[in-house]
Amino acid sequence: MADMPKDMLDELKTLEEIFTVDQTKLKQIVDHFIKELEKGLSVKGGNIPMNVTWVLGFPTGHEQGTFLALDMGGTNLRVCEIVLSEQKGEFDITQSKYRIPEELKSGDSAELWEYIADCVQQFIEYYHEGSAIPDLPLGFTFSYPATQDYIDHGVLQRWTKGFDIDGVEGKDVVPMLEQALAKRGLPIKIAALINDTTGTLIASAYTDTEMKIGCIFGTGVNAAYMENAGSIPKIAHYNLPPDMPVAINCEYGAFDNEHIVLPLTQYDHIIDRDSPRPGQQAFEKMTAGLYLGEIFRLVLLDCIDNKKIPFFANQDTSKLRKPYSLDSSFPAFIEEDPFENLSETRDLIERTLGIFANSSELEFCRRLAELIGTRAARLSACGVAAICKKKNISHCHVGADGSVFHKYPHFQARGAKALREILDWPEKEPDRVVINAAEDGSGVGAALIAALTLERAKAGNMAGIRNTEMIKRLC
Ligand code: BGC
Repeated sequence: MADMPKDMLDELKTLEEIFTVDQTKLKQIVDHFIKELEKGLSVKGGNIPMNVTWVLGFPTGHEQGTFLALDMGGTNLRVCEIVLSEQKGEFDITQSKYRIPEELKSGDSAELWEYIADCVQQFIEYYHEGSAIPDLPLGFTFSYPATQDYIDHGVLQRWTKGFDIDGVEGKDVVPMLEQALAKRGLPIKIAALINDTTGTLIASAYTDTEMKIGCIFGTGVNAAYMENAGSIPKIAHYNLPPDMPVAINCEYGAFDNEHIVLPLTQYDHIIDRDSPRPGQQAFEKMTAGLYLGEIFRLVLLDCIDNKKIPFFANQDTSKLRKPYSLDSSFPAFIEEDPFENLSETRDLIERTLGIFANSSELEFCRRLAELIGTRAARLSACGVAAICKKKNISHCHVGADGSVFHKYPHFQARGAKALREILDWPEKEPDRVVINAAEDGSGVGAALIAALTLERAKAGNMAGIRNTEMIKRLC
């Protein structure tokens, strides 16, 4: 930074102040987080939905059968056929991926379900050409907040991750998908609607008995864990045995929608204001992949337009002015530039934005990327720490998936360091809560949850199953 003009250095200092989350702040956030998790389980509820999933226990590793899984994530749609084998913890998977067209994300509901059913039909025709197949149980991974009175039911609370499709919020999505599948004569029955985090928890627990939490750090953020039925006041009226495990899909992307404790910057406020759902997903908007590139873009624009520093002076910045033109791979790539002169960053900025950055601007961009990435990783650790503290978990494994976890440089190490700071582990001792790459939650996890649902129905436990006749027939 030696040659950086003073005004630019000063601006960087200000950014460092507003983007840094120190240990004291992390602990404050976690304390508030725990209270909000509790609130979500109460009858009155709170910001964090803490959705009951009707997944009532972990797999044994001996689940068997052939299942379809449909994964509707933020970016792709994936159709899988999964055979859970007799061998403990083993499976075979066949899958196809389809990109969800951008225009569908803000289109209308019928188009969405037609598109999904077309993809499933293509998959079945390709892999089962000409052969008659029996009714296949489907695990539908629908990674949005949904209220589930039953496992084969899910009322969308609100779209997240930039989706804004009319006619779905407040409605049960299961019949919508069922109808589109039935119209095509597909022999498929929805046995379970699941969240990607619940799938991640169950898929990871399939092979690891220390697994306690499933997390997604991707386009969106969220986690699931097992709660005891007796600690969930909002389902007390079901009279479940108090120690029965019930998977909770926290939906903690909604943490602190009230803006009590999160250290929001002016850029976070702009992201929220201009999003399809202002006032929602406050925590997600500071940590998830969908937003990291946008935060980076907003800071650069502010420097160009509102600061006294000659940032990208006399250059055409029109490409940078397009909202969401930079995704999280942009700051990630900058952080990964191995060259001291940041030549790869210079090429990236020129290639993507048509801007020729000088060496100070390049260094500024690098530091900014580090600040945004570090803040996201440290805040992300707060959700995991809050669940551990709430449940008095001192040691466990956490299964994690998502593009930010896998691809954002240093995310894992920064998150682990923050966990250590929050949970006060003695120095030099190994990590007590270890976040590992998860098994495929939205595929294998969905199949396992469908299998668990059929198994418990067979054993006569129909709690939280709506279409009991259909589930019995599938057993
Ligand atoms: C959704 C969650 C999901 C998470 C990760 C959030 O936007 O609301 O349901 O688990 O993204 O995909």
